[in-house]
Amino acid sequence: MTAKSDPFSLNGKRVLVTGASSGIGRQIAITCSQVGAQMVICGRDAKRLQSTFAELYGEDHALIVADLSTEEGVTRVANESGALDGLVHAAGIARLVPFRLINASHLQTIFNTNTYGPLLLTQAVLARKCIARQGSILFISALASHSGAMATGAYAASKSALLGAMRTLAIELGRQGIRANCIAPGYVRTPMLEGLGQGGANMAELIARTPLGMGEPEDIAYTSVFYLSDASRGLTSNYTIVDGGLSIPLDIHS
Ligand SMILES: NC(=O)c1ccc[n+]([C@@H]2O[C@H](COP(=O)([O-])OP(=O)(O)OC[C@H]3O[C@@H](n4cnc5c(N)ncnc54)[C@H](OP(=O)(O)O)[C@@H]3O)[C@@H](O)[C@H]2O)c1
Repeated sequence: MTAKSDPFSLNGKRVLVTGASSGIGRQIAITCSQVGAQMVICGRDAKRLQSTFAELYGEDHALIVADLSTEEGVTRVANESGALDGLVHAAGIARLVPFRLINASHLQTIFNTNTYGPLLLTQAVLARKCIARQGSILFISALASHSGAMATGAYAASKSALLGAMRTLAIELGRQGIRANCIAPGYVRTPMLEGLGQGGANMAELIARTPLGMGEPEDIAYTSVFYLSDASRGLTSNYTIVDGGLSIPLDIHS
């Protein structure tokens, strides 16, 4: 008997990953290319993005340097991406600010990158009919959107908004076979987390409470490959918490 094509492979798929110059987005891009995808990678820092580009497996990938908190950046990425089978929104920022100290400027900064960027880029790509039938849109949210961690008021709100958008997208795009899903990572070893640790968050205590220990970018990348592949073709408006079991005592339900 001849082998059927692998439903978990991304062979023949073209995938755009934002936030690919660092951490989770970087690893998603590398892992997707490893399982056959042609990549379009996006980030702000040209040097770091180029370094991810150099790590990609296979050929014919593309790179776009853009700031997705700006209208110009969103428009350029949508114009230059071309036809896509997958879109992963991994770009994001985090700042720890107690609620009594947040202000409009802080909210604007966090929401511009974490919420408006992904939503406006999704809109721009859909308006250009760039996402193929059976395509997959994936938002990288955060466990913070469920868990109510200290000093993450704006960040958690910006990530919760992605869940709401995902549900509407899933309804609106379902008839075209386009899916919208979400991954909520717990604590993952990246430059962002390192920055939060330096900002006073007690990371050691959180990691000690995590049954599987500190998450690695690969953990999120493997789950992303699943959501981008045909293996998850029956899943939409779905989200997966990838947190090594940190949230078990929280008893979170989707
Ligand atoms: N690490 C964790 O523990 C954790 C937990 C839950 C959720 N997350 C989420 O996972 C995603 C990736 O986080 P990470 O830990 O990998 O962080 P990271 O290492 O700091 O990487 C963030 C990425 O987002 C890009 N980015 C930030 N602002 C941007 C903007 N305005 N326009 C375009 N790109 C922008 C950065 O680009 P440049 O480097 O080029 O500026 C970088 O590529 C984020 O959405 C984050 O909220 C992370």
